[in-house]
Amino acid sequence: MNRPDPLDEEYTFEDGLIVSSTDPIGIITYANRKFCEIAGYTRDELVGQNHNIIRHHSMPKVAFKELWDTIKAGKEWTGIVKNLRKDGKYYWVYSHVTPIEKNGQIQGYTAARRPASRNEIEEIIPIYANLLAAEIKS
Ligand SMILES: Cc1cc2nc3c(=O)[nH]c(=O)nc-3n(C[C@H](O)[C@H](O)[C@H](O)COP(=O)(O)O)c2cc1C
Repeated sequence: MNRPDPLDEEYTFEDGLIVSSTDPIGIITYANRKFCEIAGYTRDELVGQNHNIIRHHSMPKVAFKELWDTIKAGKEWTGIVKNLRKDGKYYWVYSHVTPIEKNGQIQGYTAARRPASRNEIEEIIPIYANLLAAEIKS
């Protein structure tokens, strides 16, 4: 079936910084106002949830594996992510995730994102599509 999904529609936004923090296993501990607005949830609906609440099904697993391998090692990660809004639309962000360390121990992580540019989106679409196809096959 190749019918387009009516909910699979892009939500675009011009500016602003989307910020969230998590504990060491990825449970949301903080969401700024922009994150709530762009994801379409209230702060109460986000805080306490796993960050995968906004995972889009067309994101390859390997992208998140790379994210987690990097940040668990105490390093910063940047990448383009397609996210799912509460209303079913998707939005693209350029994301930067930083480990928060205290006395050499990771206390959690903070992510800051801006809207991804059209070029960034066009470049990543075929890469993610190939990765996803490889995952579905295996
Ligand atoms: C600080 C931080 C921010 C994250 N931001 C996102 C995000 O914007 N979208 C997303 O799908 N996953 C994000 N993740 C990754 C999720 O924790 C999760 O690994 C991902 O959604 C895939 O879901 P899964 O691990 O259940 O397969 C973030 C993780 C951390 C630590």
